[in-house]
Amino acid sequence: MSESTNTEGAVIRAYQDGPLLVRGAFELRDETGAVIDPGRATIALCRCGRSALKPLCDGSHALAGKRRKRPTTK
Ligand code: FES
Repeated sequence: MSESTNTEGAVIRAYQDGPLLVRGAFELRDETGAVIDPGRATIALCRCGRSALKPLCDGSHALAGKRRKRPTTK
């Protein structure tokens, strides 16, 4: 599988029991609309709620030790 074939926008890859990895052209904003400089071209967005660096993943999801049922893909 190709990591990215989209040259126009971001590609978001969901990792099971982990973050959403965002690659490509994206803009990250806070709840007020202010741009957040992530300081890197690829970011991991927390979706477990445990990160101390929200909206970015800090690896805390690994402490949960749970595995959720993977959604069906097409
Ligand atoms: S997904 Fe990594 S800390 Fe939440």
